[in-house]
Amino acid sequence: MKLAVPKETRAHEKRVAASPETVKKFKALGLDVVVQEGAGAGARIPDAHYAEAGATIAASMAETLKDAEIVLKVQRPTAEELALIKRGAMLVAILAPYADKDSVKAYAAAGVDSFAMEFMPRITRAQSMDVLSSQANLAGYKAVIDAASQYSRAMPMMMTAAGTVAPARVMVFGAGVAGLQAIATARRLGAIVSATDVRPAAKEQVESLGGTFVAVIDDEFKQAETAAGYAKPMSAEYQKKQAALIAETIKKQDIAICTALIPGRPAPVLISEEMVKTMKPGSIIVDLAVEQGGNCPLSKPGEVAEAFGVTLMGHLNVPSRIATDSTSLYAKNLFNFLSPLIEKGGKALTIKWDDEIITGTCLTRGGEVVHAALKG
Ligand code: NAI
Repeated sequence: MKLAVPKETRAHEKRVAASPETVKKFKALGLDVVVQEGAGAGARIPDAHYAEAGATIAASMAETLKDAEIVLKVQRPTAEELALIKRGAMLVAILAPYADKDSVKAYAAAGVDSFAMEFMPRITRAQSMDVLSSQANLAGYKAVIDAASQYSRAMPMMMTAAGTVAPARVMVFGAGVAGLQAIATARRLGAIVSATDVRPAAKEQVESLGGTFVAVIDDEFKQAETAAGYAKPMSAEYQKKQAALIAETIKKQDIAICTALIPGRPAPVLISEEMVKTMKPGSIIVDLAVEQGGNCPLSKPGEVAEAFGVTLMGHLNVPSRIATDSTSLYAKNLFNFLSPLIEKGGKALTIKWDDEIITGTCLTRGGEVVHAALKG
């Protein structure tokens, strides 16, 4: 079988869906791997490294995709790219099916069996395939580094002959995968870190990383986690109490790292304009939730903006800002998902269509939209 790795063409995307390491592993399973020329340039992976790992380098997108049985991508294909994928091929990528429902219909019409990696169930068996975790972890790290590079002060306390530099106070909003890495990174840089979340499980995790947990702990908080481990939208009454607590806390912070999300909904607004006005001049807000509307209404997608003396960093696709490592981990996630499906010798795929990893991720199959959340 031929496995194709085209160059990503969408804006703000530097990652690529395979690394030299995974190319080597796919080759060992008996696949023919074709990588488009320059596919790894954004992630600083030269064509020669893919070639050394056993890939054939193709000069164009059309040549890369021609007759491929398996297509690995980071972002969903454009209409032009989809037209180059053969009927019956397997497409694996972050497909953003809720944001772009028409494209799901287009995969079905094109007869492509598509798999959305961000729908991977969060079960132990699938942890090594979980692209949301691998990418969010790096985004949480990068958010703190972005903040530190913009901040006009130092992060750690420094006692020098010329005087003492105070440590930065960093508050992390949302202590999921990105938030926990942000806490760990800010601590490593010497900041005093606090964090808030609405899930009770987050308290212990924040504290185990040396952060202070700040939250309204009432009956609603005790039930805010869904069976899948995500946060529920909170009541207006809870939001009011939470806002009062954040308003008190945010005044004392130098850096806010926003990561709070609720799956399938706009991000909760946690830092209002009024609160930004109370922050110290030179403070930084990094809003990783900006693509879902933001945890702060003043942050602008794709921009580093300033309001009331506060810098608001709204970078898009933060994992792509650390493209070498995010590529390496994303490529591994895809290999871990695909390798059990490849028959010995690499001649065919054997897919157990009732496996929850497959039912969870498969959007279209045999010309139909098959995912339970997208049918009809
Ligand atoms: P996410 O990206 O959906 O949300 C980030 C964080 O924002 C969450 O911790 C959420 O509780 C928090 N949040 C939502 N609304 C908020 C509000 N109003 N105020 C403050 N915080 C708010 O979540 P993520 O990072 O994808 O992780 C969700 C859960 O899944 C976590 O419990 C994580 O440990 C768990 N997980 C489990 C895995 C597994 O394989 N078992 C793998 C990865 C994550």
